[in-house]
Amino acid sequence: MTGPSSLAARAIVAASSSARLKEAVTRAPVTRSVVERFVAGEAEDDGVRAARSLAGSGLRVSLDHLGEFTSDPEVIRAATAATVSMLRRLAAEGLAPACEVSVKLTALGLDVGRSVALDNAYAVVAAAREAGTTVTCDMEDSTRTDRTLDVVRELRAEEPSVGVVLQAMLRRTESDARDLAHAGSRVRLCKGAYAEPESVAFPSRAEVDASYARSLGILMRGQGYPMVATHDPRFVDLGERLVKEHGRGADTYEFQMLYGIRPGEQLALAGRGHTVRVYVPYGKDWYGYLMRRLAERPANVAFFVRALATRS
Ligand code: FDA
Repeated sequence: MTGPSSLAARAIVAASSSARLKEAVTRAPVTRSVVERFVAGEAEDDGVRAARSLAGSGLRVSLDHLGEFTSDPEVIRAATAATVSMLRRLAAEGLAPACEVSVKLTALGLDVGRSVALDNAYAVVAAAREAGTTVTCDMEDSTRTDRTLDVVRELRAEEPSVGVVLQAMLRRTESDARDLAHAGSRVRLCKGAYAEPESVAFPSRAEVDASYARSLGILMRGQGYPMVATHDPRFVDLGERLVKEHGRGADTYEFQMLYGIRPGEQLALAGRGHTVRVYVPYGKDWYGYLMRRLAERPANVAFFVRALATRS
């Protein structure tokens, strides 16, 4: 398996599907404060509050109603309704178009079937259009990449502004970037947060980095709208250099970072004239998201495992 670096980090991502670990983590007293760092809160109001505050400081926002990997029709229905409701709220509060939504297609029914995900995603896209803002489809693990790209292709036939995500860790990404670097195409490039086999993903950090640099070059040279999603100072620098080199105007690309990570750099980038969007997760189903954030940073993992081990 490859994925987030360090053995402990990979172990965390791989173990996060264990029901026992989930229960231990969810119950641990230390969890609450860690969750608060990365998640705006459990209610729609919490997401709106965070969005208003970020938008007030000149940042854009992508709100993500947490939830993923479900085949439960009731959960899927509720997830779709929650995102539609958030879009109406953004319009009512005057927060669109600065604030959009991100969706995970497995929350909208991808694992049940293409047509279920597509129907629900159409409802979200229609609500976004009415609100005057956009939707970006997150990318999940590699067993779902083709299905996600297929649904996005279909959605774009109806609404070309629908955004998509590519993960530099995947061997296929450079080729996907070439296919998607066309006019009007909003593409978020990230490193990738899922544990993947070496058959589909680069095993070393250096190879993931090289893939990120190559794919970002393709997107910046292309006609689309690149969304540079990283906290890594080397790729923020590269993004800034490529913007300059290709003479891109501030409305033809953006930088993106996650809520709670490098907030000072988010403001500094915006201060240098770049469009910066913060990905703001909210909702009750924060477990999988939290595990991926912990896995990205060995120091977080060590701290968290120690706290869990010593809980009474
Ligand atoms: P890297 O992990 O090397 O971090 C660089 C530096 O950033 C660290 O040294 C540290 O200072 C800081 N940092 C990063 N992560 C941190 C953390 N958890 N806690 C504290 N500090 C941290 N992935 C995916 O598979 N599908 C998707 O759809 C998305 N969507 C997405 C949207 C946006 C807006 C962002 C920013 C990221 C994603 N990701 C994602 C996650 C992405 O794939 C990746 O896992 C993280 O962004 C971490 O990678 P970095 O590029 O930040 O580098």
